[in-house]
Amino acid sequence: MISTANSERIQDAIYGFTRSRLLFTAVDLRLFTHIYEGKNTIEQLTPTLDANPRALRMFMDGLIGTGFLEKEKGVYTLPKDVENYLVQSSANYIGGMVKHGKRLYDNWGLLRDVIRSGMPAGGAQALTHIEEHFSELVKGLYVSNFKTAQELATALAIGDEQNTELNILDVAGGSAVWSIVMLEKDPKSQATVIDYPRVIEVAKEYIQSHGLSDRYSYIPGDLEVLKFPESQYDLAILANICHAIGPEASEKLIADVAKSLKPGGRIAIVDFVPDDGRSRQGWPLIFGVNMLISTDSGDVFTQAQYKTWFEKAGLTFKDAKELESEVTTLIAQRN
Ligand SMILES: C[S@@+](CC[C@H](N)C(=O)[O-])C[C@H]1O[C@@H](n2cnc3c(N)ncnc32)[C@H](O)[C@@H]1O
Repeated sequence: MISTANSERIQDAIYGFTRSRLLFTAVDLRLFTHIYEGKNTIEQLTPTLDANPRALRMFMDGLIGTGFLEKEKGVYTLPKDVENYLVQSSANYIGGMVKHGKRLYDNWGLLRDVIRSGMPAGGAQALTHIEEHFSELVKGLYVSNFKTAQELATALAIGDEQNTELNILDVAGGSAVWSIVMLEKDPKSQATVIDYPRVIEVAKEYIQSHGLSDRYSYIPGDLEVLKFPESQYDLAILANICHAIGPEASEKLIADVAKSLKPGGRIAIVDFVPDDGRSRQGWPLIFGVNMLISTDSGDVFTQAQYKTWFEKAGLTFKDAKELESEVTTLIAQRN
């Protein structure tokens, strides 16, 4: 007898790429920006995009099907989220993240080869323009991490009586979103960002837009080789970095950061953390494949793995909390 078990999630996975491709192409064509600027009919968009009218109409119908566009009496309009995040002039524009997604999409097409070779897609040189790549990516991460950063600040009780006037180290800070939120919660705290020089220039723009420039210092360089200041910080944030650098470098980074803390100072890992048995459905284990495809030795690490590294670094594990979007924070304290 033929099984009638529901095949919905399998069908979803088979055709999931259609939504991604429609979105990537619309952003590539600056379609949402054109519509926002008033070119909102097929007649106006056809010459602007140098398109075939039938093809353009069908492509835009597809975008309506996905909900990324709306239409009334032949005039196209943008849903609120598309206007907020995908129009180039918006302060919340995440086009860089869409481009990043498209690169990943192309690399994920090589997954079969990656499984055979154990090498990232495109070989060891997959990310030759790494600073440029991160300079774009962190702008999208600023938007997607802002709310989660507030949750982290709450989990760490930043601004509460016992947690003011902190000296904070934002390791691989990117846009500095995590420390920006903390400095806004406590007007007496200050922060230092470590990242590649080009990415630090991006961080400075966000820091300035929050009016926090005079409370920040910077350590530009490669965190795998630079020397960390000793016994300086009350709190170090390691957000979304361990998964990219692999187990050996993560263990060393945690040890370096531990030494840079004052006694009693805390470290907060923020990352995708799968369950210890690596047997639970969810984004952390899928994200691990992304690291397999994109990096030499990246992976997602379990709480048990982090605890081992904490212990070796002279840190005592204090707490684990699930923040938004399956992101976990692990908090430990220098002995
Ligand atoms: C995924 S982003 C995370 C940024 C930020 N922590 C956040 O969560 O939004 C990784 C960051 O690590 C930085 N990074 C990666 N490898 C690095 C290295 N070897 N030295 C310095 N920075 C590095 C990148 O430039 C980027 O800003």
